[in-house]
Amino acid sequence: MSIVYQPQDQTFRLQTQHTSYCMRVGRGGHLLHLYYGSRIGEGDLAALYPPADVGFSPSYYAGRFERVLSPDLLPQEYTGCNVGDFRLGCVSVTDGAGARGADFIYVSHRIVSGKYALAGLPASHDEDGEAETLTVRLQDPVTGLTLELLYAVFAQQDVITRAARLVNEGRGPLWLDKAASACLDLPFGCWDLIHFHGRHAMERQMERTPLADAIQTVSSTRGASSHHHNPFVILCDRETTEESGDCCGIMPVYSGSFRTDVEVTQTGLTRLVTGIHEEGFRWLLQPGETFTAPEVILAYTGRGLGALSRVFHGFVRRNVCRGPWRFARRPVLINNWEATYFDFDADKIVRIAEKAAGLGVEMLVLDDGWFGRRSDDNSSLGDWQVNTDKLPGGLDPLIARIHALGMKFGLWVEPEMVSEDSDLYRAHPDWALTLPGRRPAMGRNQLVLDLARPEVVDYITGWMTALLRDHAIDYIKWDMNRNMSDVYSRALPPERQGETTHRYMLGLYSLLERLTQSFPDVLFEGCAGGGGRFDAGMLCYFPQIWCSDDTDAIERLTIQHGTSFGYPVSAVGAHVSACPNHQTGRTTPLDTRAVVAMSGTFGYELDLNRLSDAECGAVRSQIARFKRWAGLIGGGAYFRLVPPQGGYFTAWQFAAPDGGETLLNLVVTHPQANPRPIHLRLRGLRPDASYRVDELVFAGCSGAAEARRESGAAALSGGVFSGSLLMNAGLTLPQLFGDYPAVQLHLTLADEAEGREERA
Ligand code: DGJ
Repeated sequence: MSIVYQPQDQTFRLQTQHTSYCMRVGRGGHLLHLYYGSRIGEGDLAALYPPADVGFSPSYYAGRFERVLSPDLLPQEYTGCNVGDFRLGCVSVTDGAGARGADFIYVSHRIVSGKYALAGLPASHDEDGEAETLTVRLQDPVTGLTLELLYAVFAQQDVITRAARLVNEGRGPLWLDKAASACLDLPFGCWDLIHFHGRHAMERQMERTPLADAIQTVSSTRGASSHHHNPFVILCDRETTEESGDCCGIMPVYSGSFRTDVEVTQTGLTRLVTGIHEEGFRWLLQPGETFTAPEVILAYTGRGLGALSRVFHGFVRRNVCRGPWRFARRPVLINNWEATYFDFDADKIVRIAEKAAGLGVEMLVLDDGWFGRRSDDNSSLGDWQVNTDKLPGGLDPLIARIHALGMKFGLWVEPEMVSEDSDLYRAHPDWALTLPGRRPAMGRNQLVLDLARPEVVDYITGWMTALLRDHAIDYIKWDMNRNMSDVYSRALPPERQGETTHRYMLGLYSLLERLTQSFPDVLFEGCAGGGGRFDAGMLCYFPQIWCSDDTDAIERLTIQHGTSFGYPVSAVGAHVSACPNHQTGRTTPLDTRAVVAMSGTFGYELDLNRLSDAECGAVRSQIARFKRWAGLIGGGAYFRLVPPQGGYFTAWQFAAPDGGETLLNLVVTHPQANPRPIHLRLRGLRPDASYRVDELVFAGCSGAAEARRESGAAALSGGVFSGSLLMNAGLTLPQLFGDYPAVQLHLTLADEAEGREERA
């Protein structure tokens, strides 16, 4: 049993392998939080919160003479509003009389095996039957608003998921101006906030800031989780490192506007509240109606940030991603975007594919520009008929030529958008989000379709279904290239306009649900101008997401490093592109680009016909290496050894779950004269086992010191080291010179390496 209820003191204890989450029903019936952290044994946690009388923190009415129990001081599971807790709140509820208030009192609870489902929203799943669910039912006695707090415990994986449902069981309408998913109170300790900010082509830059005695906010009002602030955040102890210390990850399963606030309160309690952003949000809840706030995935560890990331990697891969592709190696792809942009025809695409197929590439992805009159990004979104000037005879002849090369075929779409210059917009101008009487702000000269309208969702479902049914398409890249402004739905009445952005998300999710259920074998890759919607909500439908429009290998290191805190490598779309790089103008060695892209789904995005024979040989070897190591990269434990910011080099490592093999990756990010030795201690190995260096790849090394590097490399190649040596004494690599050189070093158990040599 991972959920235990003790009736004598009305406490709930949620236990995972290494964590405990405890709460109790307080004297007045409020659900109080007691503890979330490393696993603990029995004992009265209420003793942590002795009665206190603090000025200007009011008492519950029943305790007004003792004045020692205050809604403003006790840790809470989910707050009401306007009833004496002045810290961050979870809801804002107003009734028909204009009275804003809610106070949730315990009614009942239920513990069942299995995982709860959330109608209309993406959520993690429990195919392996690991989870148990606790539902606590509370009610505001005045409005009749019922709150169901849902907790699913994945004991083996050290994960707890939460969600909240609000049901109007009263007699009149209620307006929700805020309806958070979860509140997490950490009553003690000094915490840092780690968040992942950025911008287009520079997503998920990791930033760690000590919490001030104030409110810090990470949010998006863009109608998408955004390039600018990823919804995943971490709270960690000031002393926490990659390898040790307390940390807690909070990952909303939502792709729209969100807000996470963290407040350090007068008592030192840290409160985090996360959910849909309340800007512009107003949900009318009629009697009998339910509002469901999106799920949040929580994980806690006392073993450092690396361990926390590995919990999320496993959980996102296994329990967030769905379908046959979640564990499968993804085909090595070639995408024509940076090779041709809009300037292509079928023959040009086939020439790129032919070259790629010969080098081991397994799928051709035809990007933007194959439909309507689309020769630039000013028109045709919405007109999803094939442009037969570019592709004579339509898609099928091209697909047949690609398949004849033994390759899969993938296609780009951007279904949520419409160009002003399109037949669709001319026929249905009211299908776009625009404000009455105003010229809309144009992003990439396009508008957002109103997916809050069921008929728009049906329309997209219709043409996408026909596309996938009528053509042999193996993969879809689902793009989204502007944020939402001018939010107004022509289909909703005035009193429901505040529901538009969330209804849009519900429409999008129902569309994705229908398509991914109807075409389970199609591999979907999410994209939003790169990583503008890289979140757990999207990962419920798309097992991989194009990580960034910035394909520069060195910039990708910080983007992929930030992404790695919450998301697994199997979700990270990454390609080798041409140099000078189209986004930065930088030139990096081809093999270095491959080292970086291999820590993702791996593919190419350039015209391979323009490479020399030697470079094509390198590409062939890169693909072969990736195919050999894909299981380790996709399914292994990920260790951040040296971060990319600031130093001479960055390094990261994959170790097989059973410690049977490992791959060390290293890129010199700031080439130096007379650099210090590169010394690294490996992780995740079996201390008593012997490992042999069976592959050692140097990329882009040059200069006068080449001889020294070669002799250093010779000393390492074939070397046998114990796991304890590698993890404690470590490895020293030869000095590396050149523009952004890189290393990949693969170690396997010495016995297995010998066995393989003998068999060969
Ligand atoms: C933005 C994507 O991130 C790119 O990879 C490419 O697909 C373009 N859109 C096409 O318009």
